[in-house]
Amino acid sequence: MKKNIKLYETVAALLEPGKGILAADESDNTAGKRLSMVHLPNEPEHRRDFRELLFTAPDIEKYISGVIMYDSSIRNETRDGIPFVDVLTAKGIVPGIKVDLGTKDLEGFKGEVITQGLDNLEARFAEYYDMGARFAKWRAVITIDEDETPTDAALKMNAIMLARYAQIAQAANIVPIVEPEVIHEGDHSLERAEMVTTRTLQVLFQTLIEYKVDLSGLILKTSMVLAGSTYPEQTTPEEVANATLRTFHMSVPHTCAGIVFLSGGQAPERSTENLNAIAKLGEQPWPITFSFSRAIEEPMLKAWQGKPENEEAAKEALRATCEKNSLASLGKS
Ligand code: 13P
Repeated sequence: MKKNIKLYETVAALLEPGKGILAADESDNTAGKRLSMVHLPNEPEHRRDFRELLFTAPDIEKYISGVIMYDSSIRNETRDGIPFVDVLTAKGIVPGIKVDLGTKDLEGFKGEVITQGLDNLEARFAEYYDMGARFAKWRAVITIDEDETPTDAALKMNAIMLARYAQIAQAANIVPIVEPEVIHEGDHSLERAEMVTTRTLQVLFQTLIEYKVDLSGLILKTSMVLAGSTYPEQTTPEEVANATLRTFHMSVPHTCAGIVFLSGGQAPERSTENLNAIAKLGEQPWPITFSFSRAIEEPMLKAWQGKPENEEAAKEALRATCEKNSLASLGKS
C-alpha cells in the first residue's frame, strides 16, 4: 500500500495529547434543535451566530485540535466577514467536514438504516480540500433492538459504505473519521451493548482491511459502551470504561491511528466522567480522546440563551467544558 505522508501529518495534529475534536457538524435542521433550546428560530443568521460563538471562543485551541463542520458552515463567515475556516486555521485548529448525507431505511430490514452520500464524493472532497478541510466524517447508525437487530447484513453493508468513503477520502489527502454509532437509546444491557459494539467494529475493520484502507491514516469515532438509556440498572464509569476497552481490544487493530468518542446523548458531566475513567485505565495501543457535539455544546447554549449580552459568558462556558474534557482525556479530571 502506498503511504501518504500528508494523512499522517493531519492525524498527528488531530491526536495531539490532551486535545479532542469538536463535532460542530450538525445539519441546518439539527442546528435548529440547538437553537430551539435557547428559544431562537432556525434562521440563517441565528445558525451563523451559534457557529460563530463555537469557533471564535478564546483559548479553545488549547483543548481542541480539530472542528468538524457542515457544508453550510464551511462556506459561511463571521458577522465581520471572516470565513469560519480562516478563523479556525488561524488558531491552529484543523478544519474538517461531515460528508455523509444522512440515513435512509434499508429495505427489507425493519428498523435498520444505511447512510447516503457516495455519489460525487471525489468532486466534493476536491472542493472541500480547496476550502481547507483536511479530515472528514461519515456516520453509520446501528440500533440495538430485539435479538436479531442489528443484522450482520446491515453491519456489512454499512461497513462497505464506510470503507468506500475512506478510500475516496485518503485518495483526496483527507483523513477519514469512520463513525459507526451504536445508538444509546433503548433498554439493552451493558453486556448487549458490548456484544453489538464488538461485532460492529470487527465487521468494520475486516472490511476496511479487505478494501486496503490505510488504518494508520484513519480515525475511528465510536460510542462508549453503555447500557441503553432506559435500562433500569445504572452502570458506573468504571464498568463503562472496562467494557469499552475490552471491546476495542477485541476489534480495533493496533495500526488504527486513534479512537475518538461521540457523547451519544449522555449528560455532559457523565460523558466527561466516563472519558476520565477510560483514560485512568492507562496507556492503550491507540490515542483515545473525545469528539463530542452535544456534551460540549449544551453548557455553552445554557450560558448563551440566545442573548447578545451573554455571548462572552457562553464562550467562557465552552472553553471551560473543553478544558474539562481535555483533562478527562488524560485521566486527570
Ligand atoms: P454527540 O456527541 O452529540 O453524540 O455527537 C457526536 C457526533 O458527531 C455524532 O455523529
